[in-house]
Amino acid sequence: MSNAIDVEDTVDAPHSGMIPVFNPSTEEQIAEVPDSDQAAVDAAVARARDTFESGAWRKLPAARRAEVLFRAADIIRARSDELAELESRNNGMTAMGAQQIIKVANEMLIYYAGWVGKIHGESAPLVSDGLLGHYETFHTYTQLEPVGVVGLIIPWNGPFFVAMLKVAPALAAGCSVVLKPAEETPLTALKLEEIFREAGVPDGVVNVLTGYGETTGAALTAHPDVDKIAFTGSTEVGRLIVKAAAGNLKRLTLELGGKSPLIMFDDANLDKAIMGAGMGLLAGSGQNCSCTSRIYVQRGIYDQVVDGLVAFAQMLPMGGNDDPNSVLGPLISEKQRTRVAGIVADGVAGGAQVVTGGQPMDRRGYFYEATIITDTTPDMRLIREEIFGPVGCIIPFDDEDEAIAAANDTEYGLAGAIWTENLSRAHRVVNELRGGQIWVNSALAADPSMPICGHKQSGWGGERGKKGLEAYFNVKSVYIGL
Ligand code: NAI
Ligand code: MG
Repeated sequence: MSNAIDVEDTVDAPHSGMIPVFNPSTEEQIAEVPDSDQAAVDAAVARARDTFESGAWRKLPAARRAEVLFRAADIIRARSDELAELESRNNGMTAMGAQQIIKVANEMLIYYAGWVGKIHGESAPLVSDGLLGHYETFHTYTQLEPVGVVGLIIPWNGPFFVAMLKVAPALAAGCSVVLKPAEETPLTALKLEEIFREAGVPDGVVNVLTGYGETTGAALTAHPDVDKIAFTGSTEVGRLIVKAAAGNLKRLTLELGGKSPLIMFDDANLDKAIMGAGMGLLAGSGQNCSCTSRIYVQRGIYDQVVDGLVAFAQMLPMGGNDDPNSVLGPLISEKQRTRVAGIVADGVAGGAQVVTGGQPMDRRGYFYEATIITDTTPDMRLIREEIFGPVGCIIPFDDEDEAIAAANDTEYGLAGAIWTENLSRAHRVVNELRGGQIWVNSALAADPSMPICGHKQSGWGGERGKKGLEAYFNVKSVYIGL
């Protein structure tokens, strides 16, 4: 094992075996982490439960809790180079991408640290018809209470950021957490446990458990002493989690897949639109839940946009995590590359044309070429399934209604993009698109204050913003007879 990273100092949970961890840019094993078994899950949940019931964290004064979270943000800032290096080695993302991930994760933490103590209940003046036929007067109020022990299950794309998207609001609300990172990318999540401890979060409030989804993840999801699961990942596993959560009716936040459309009208600023469509498709090599992989282009500009996107895809340098010029990194694993190649092959067998790309790269690492495809039909896997690779399809349309109908012809509803200089058209199409996050003349913009709530089969509930914090509270209404 070369460049081994010692995780033993951060992992002391009981476990039954070890999971090898690889660098997707080189295919080298860089670490191994425990494969946590049922006993490890039970122990982590028990630690979280003890701290929750004792109030070691949730009953601290708000100012103290905020101070601790801001201190964690300072530690992350001070260690950002080291964290970015680890993230890029483990996930394969470019050095630049990893710096950005650590930065936006920290902005998320700072955003939620700022909410501590600023979200609370309401009071309503209440006089009601009493049971005995005379008016009763009450003092009423609602109280927001942390939901309890929360299981957080995250995927391999943007691991440190997606972990923070859940840990930060959970801690801000006063919950205790058990975080299970993806088996492919556990390394920065393990650092998170260490960072929060150093910042002053009491031991046992943040627990990180490494392990596979089908075992460790499933045990956490089914655990009778876990009050809520927040999950990001595939729609298929989202469905399994819904079933597993039925046992004790856990609260659920599900951020699932997407198959997001981009609609480009012939009045768009084409230079910007082509670059925006290219980035919306290729950022993270397409391993992004909001990837706009169905690109609908008005017929008059279709040829020009195909040429532009092909040139854009060919221009972006693809390379390993240690290559400073690289803009596009590898896919996470050979399994994922095989999946992407299979979806492309199915399309080609059905008559789709690969205009550029369409092959694994001839080098070490799980690289797959940036790929632009035309001549698809709406029933192809290329159009229906989340690909999670650098593969986009360009489809011509004639008028606005046709574009809207095609864009909405999907079981997903996570995101969408519109490129037009016509203000009325932009608003009309925003109103018609079914998705939790719509960009007009922009690609991939995101801010901690703006929630993303999957419509249709893209999820339940939302993350980010005030809504993302409220998801970690139970509401209690209190009536005091006067
Ligand atoms: P996945 O949904 O299987 O994995 C995500 C997380 O769920 C991981 O931590 C995994 O260990 C855990 N998990 C898996 N099975 C579980 C179970 N039965 N109970 C509890 N936790 C479980 O996603 P995977 O296999 O890594 O990727 C497959 C496809 O899913 C991708 O090609 C992509 O299309 C989609 N995906 C979508 C994501 C998104 O952000 N929307 C993120 C990751 C994957
Ligand atoms: Mg899976």
